[in-house]
Amino acid sequence: MVDWVKIRGDFPATDNGTYFISAGMSPLPRQVFEGVMSEYRKICECGDINWEDDIKRNRNVRGKVGKLIGANADDIAFIVNTSTSMSLLALSLKIELGTGFNVISMMDEFPATTVPFEYQDIDMRYVTPVEGRYPICSILDQLDGNTKAVLTSYVQYATGFRQDLKKLGEELKKRDVLFLVNSTQGFPYFPIDVKGMGIDALSASLHKWGMIGQAGAIFYTSPEFRKRFPTPIAGWQSVVPDEGDFIYTKKNGKIRLLESSEQYMCGCINLQVLNAFETALDYQSSIGYDNIRKRIFELSDYLVSRLKEVNAAIISPIFNCDERSAAISFNLGDDTAGCVSYLEKRKIYVSYRNRNIRVSLNVFNDEGDIDTLMDAISGYSTS
Ligand SMILES: Cc1ncc(COP(=O)(O)O)c(C=O)c1O
Repeated sequence: MVDWVKIRGDFPATDNGTYFISAGMSPLPRQVFEGVMSEYRKICECGDINWEDDIKRNRNVRGKVGKLIGANADDIAFIVNTSTSMSLLALSLKIELGTGFNVISMMDEFPATTVPFEYQDIDMRYVTPVEGRYPICSILDQLDGNTKAVLTSYVQYATGFRQDLKKLGEELKKRDVLFLVNSTQGFPYFPIDVKGMGIDALSASLHKWGMIGQAGAIFYTSPEFRKRFPTPIAGWQSVVPDEGDFIYTKKNGKIRLLESSEQYMCGCINLQVLNAFETALDYQSSIGYDNIRKRIFELSDYLVSRLKEVNAAIISPIFNCDERSAAISFNLGDDTAGCVSYLEKRKIYVSYRNRNIRVSLNVFNDEGDIDTLMDAISGYSTS
């Protein structure tokens, strides 16, 4: 049995308001904050003398990330953000495929997914949602002989709709179409198996469900993908070092790209915070991802039942558990935006997305938070 009261106590942010915006950024539990502090304490007290150990530890952290998504450390890079991962993918496709191809994506993707491709002038075709869902047949219907990739979020940021990546990936493999995924709103809470799902590349920013603030993003690529689409940009850490050295010093020599996904990491990263990300992964693993999902679904069921009492229009497709996530969006009519400000004044934090209220539920939330929200909503509608 998980002690959810104790877990709530790990999050100082719960003392400062009723927090439903983890899909924007999750607050840190005390343990992770201490993990970050301890990495910086090492720099404060010892400077750079632990650099080699830190590099090794970073590889271990990437290994832990890999385990969570069915990949090896070699296939995981840390990248500054998902916009950058997507830019790398867009550039690779443009360089290797030239023109005359198209990419299929979803109409209400978060722009970090799509702007990088549009900026490279790639022919983007968008699938229209059906009642907040993207049925796989609607996606496949858009494919034509020039489609080279499908680009989708695992969980849509505005509605919380969770795509069946396995089924979609299987269909794309049959058609020899690349499968590129933004998993920012899904990782690490919802299951990912990159091989079983036929995913060629995947990015997930860590500041939402990674509980580590704006530290960066994970970027997975399969070895086959990297062979066909080597990194379109490189830095000193992308290449094989000189023999007996840790850097490549030649000028006008023959540059050899690293085969691993470190080729994307280019140079120094935010090693301290990204190493402390291990504390967040350990914290979440100690609760257990099955328990986390169960808890989130229990809370969202309770939220939905309370929303029905006030006749709120529920925007998220919630009928199929396999398509649900930690976010529920709803609408209260013409004055939905006014209600968001009203709530904020009472320190009840929700997001306003696509003219709807998005509530995201996390491990520290409880039924009391939902009662606080619903009492305030009822107070607003009668005020
Ligand atoms: C689905 C999704 N992708 C990506 C991001 C962030 O992108 P980036 O890491 O490029 O800032 C967000 C939210 O900030 C998001 O909701």
